[in-house]
Amino acid sequence: MREDKGMDAADMGTDLQQVLISREEIESRLDDMAEKIDADYAGKDLLLVGVLKGAVYVMADLSRRLRRSAPMDWMAVSSYGSGTKSSGVVRILKDLDTDLTGRHVLIVEDIIDSGLTLSWLLGNLTSRGAASVRIATLLRKPEAVKVEVDVTYVGFDIPNEFVVGYGLDYAESYRNLPFIATLRPEVYGG
Ligand code: PRP
Repeated sequence: MREDKGMDAADMGTDLQQVLISREEIESRLDDMAEKIDADYAGKDLLLVGVLKGAVYVMADLSRRLRRSAPMDWMAVSSYGSGTKSSGVVRILKDLDTDLTGRHVLIVEDIIDSGLTLSWLLGNLTSRGAASVRIATLLRKPEAVKVEVDVTYVGFDIPNEFVVGYGLDYAESYRNLPFIATLRPEVYGG
């Protein structure tokens, strides 16, 4: 059987510039986040909402650390217009299957960049009658923020650099790296 190690930096040839956050650091931080979530939602009916596709890995690894039942649902969203996320206008590509009325919702994300997606999602999910809506994100880029979003659980604040791995892609590649890394600018034409 193949060991559950996944790729390492050497498997990426020369594409990677630097490993910013190692697999071990991610796992240890997810332990802390799960402990806080368990304590904060004790006795409450929690629904995890993941945002495709980047949140797949955080959702899988965070939810498995919770010592409680935590149903999950998924949304896929996209920005209107040019494909940049700066418009703040979001289109729902796949909506939730779950009625949020009276539910305690925890949005699970891989990264908050400008904050526009999460700001919109918070408003949208709150308007559906949820009892509460909070956010858990593995990564946040404070220097890139365009709109302040109240985030309850943050894994790591990172510099405003283009990062890949652990769900984050460049042109759909690199999502399955088990760590967070920067790409050499030559790879993405930067
Ligand atoms: C990423 C991330 C957030 C959003 C954050 O998703 O998962 O949803 O961008 O950016 P913002 O704070 O500037 O709004 P992306 O649109 O890259 O889709 P993906 O998860 O399918 O890669």
